[in-house]
Formats: sequence, structure tokens, C-alpha cells
Amino acid sequence: MERWEGKVAVVSGASAGIGASIVEELVKHGMIVVGLARRKERVEELANKLSGEKGKVYAVKADVSNEEEVKSAFKWVRETLGKLHVLVNNAGITRNVPLSQMEKPDVIRQIFETNVIGLSLCTGEAVCLMKETGVDDGHIIHINSVAGHSILPYSGHHAYGASKHAVTVLTEGLRRELMEAKSSIRVTSVSPGLVKTEIFEAAGGDPNIYQNPHLQPKDIADCVIFALQCPPNVQIHELTVKPIGEGC
Ligand SMILES: NC(=O)c1ccc[n+]([C@@H]2O[C@H](COP(=O)([O-])OP(=O)(O)OC[C@H]3O[C@@H](n4cnc5c(N)ncnc54)[C@H](OP(=O)(O)O)[C@@H]3O)[C@@H](O)[C@H]2O)c1
Repeated sequence: MERWEGKVAVVSGASAGIGASIVEELVKHGMIVVGLARRKERVEELANKLSGEKGKVYAVKADVSNEEEVKSAFKWVRETLGKLHVLVNNAGITRNVPLSQMEKPDVIRQIFETNVIGLSLCTGEAVCLMKETGVDDGHIIHINSVAGHSILPYSGHHAYGASKHAVTVLTEGLRRELMEAKSSIRVTSVSPGLVKTEIFEAAGGDPNIYQNPHLQPKDIADCVIFALQCPPNVQIHELTVKPIGEGC
């Protein structure tokens, strides 16, 4: 990880769960990390907690589904820090939304606007910033899901699965585009199984879900570090990580 020391990373969804853990690990490895979230105060608390570490955390308020807020967050990165080397597209939500009764179209829209449009907006801004500032060895990491590769047996969460299947296609599409442009920016999808975070609580979901085998956020942060620390010519394209005993 030495080559990333002092380099700039943006992590979306930095206020909780996997995103907060990724921020923590990047900062411990000496990176300058910009944590995006709507609950900026939670990222500020994290920044205070990590103030003794090698790197530094900046909290920036942004709703990734809002184009203006995303643009202004990346403008802030450019004007304040000058460059961007790593983007971790982690912000994501699920909601219980039955497909057979289209009673909640706004909820489906919210899932896609966060997990797909938000990820795409941040990716576009990050790649432009990297190119404009001559960063050709950057790294874009999407926090995908096992739900992006197969259809899970969680009734009510298929809109989420559809959004994560989109992330799988967006990962490969970005890799091909960058390759055609002869860029050395690397692209990685990290696809976790069940991880103990706030995601199901936020979805009003099953309180017993964590009786199933599950991972901790740090397990996923460690995967991000693994993908980053590979030599520049090595691209971990897809990393699927499940707890031992997970059935699907
Ligand atoms: N937990 C799992 O079992 C699991 C499994 C596979 C994949 N994942 C993926 O891992 C990622 C992180 O999820 P998590 O489990 O850590 O969930 P979490 O604990 O609920 O955290 C979600 C994070 O995303 C942020 N976020 C949500 N909507 C946002 C928006 N519109 N704009 C900006 N930030 C937004 C939240 O921040 P604010 O609310 O402060 O904005 C929060 O920091 C997601 O992409 C999820 O799909 C999770």
C-alpha cells in the first residue's frame, strides 16, 4: 500500500457500515480520504476518531443520487486536494418492495437512483477528474453484491438485485471503455454476501437476518485493500466474498 500513501480517495456512503470501515482502513494506510454521505456529521465523528492515524479524513455532504451535489463534491475535491486517485462507490440501499404490487414506484426509483445512477455519476466525475489531472493509474472500486450475480431468495429485495446486476454490467462496461481509451485506471467489483451493517434496519427489514452466517464490514474493507495493493498491472476484476456457511 506504500504507493497510495498521501494519495486521494473518495468513498461514498462513508457514514456507516462498509463505507465507514473502508474509510478507516484507507486512512490507516496513509491515504487522504474524502467521505461522502448525506449524514455528514457521522463522517465528521469518524474523522475525529481517526485523527491520530497516518492519513486524513474530510467529510463532504452529498446525496449521490443528486447530480448537482455530486458535481459540487468532486469540484470540492479538485479545488481543495487537486487530484483524485481512488474512488470507492459504496453508497447503496435496499428496500422491501414487492414487484407484483407496484404500490411503491418511488422506492424502486430511489434504489436505482442511489445504486445505479449515483454510482454512475460518481464514476463519471472521478474518471474525468483523474484524466484532467494526469492520473492514469487510478482505481475505481464498486461495492457490488452477490445479489449482482445471482437471484437471491430474499422476497421483496429483487429490485435491489436488479440494481446490483446493473452494477455488474457497469463494471465490465467501464473496464472495456478504459481499455479502449488505453487508460491504466483499474476497475474492481467487490461482491459481498451478508455483512452486518445498518442496511436492513434502514430497509425496515427482518431483525433476525443476522442469525444467518455473516461477515463484518472490516472483512470487505480488507478486500478493498487487497485489490488496491496489487501491482499496477494486476486488475482484480471481481472479488466475491461470502461468510463460511452462507447458503446462496
Ligand atoms: N450489508 C450487506 O449485507 C451487503 C451485502 C452486499 C453488498 N452490500 C453493499 O454494500 C454497500 C454499503 O452498504 P452497507 O451494508 O454498509 O449499508 P449501511 O450500513 O446502510 O450504509 C449505507 C451507506 O450508504 C450511504 N447512502 C445511502 N444512500 C445514499 C445517498 N443517496 N447518497 C449518499 N450516501 C448514501 C449511507 O449514508 P447516509 O445515509 O448518511 O447518506 C451509508 O453511509 C451498499 O452498496 C450495499 O449494497 C451490503
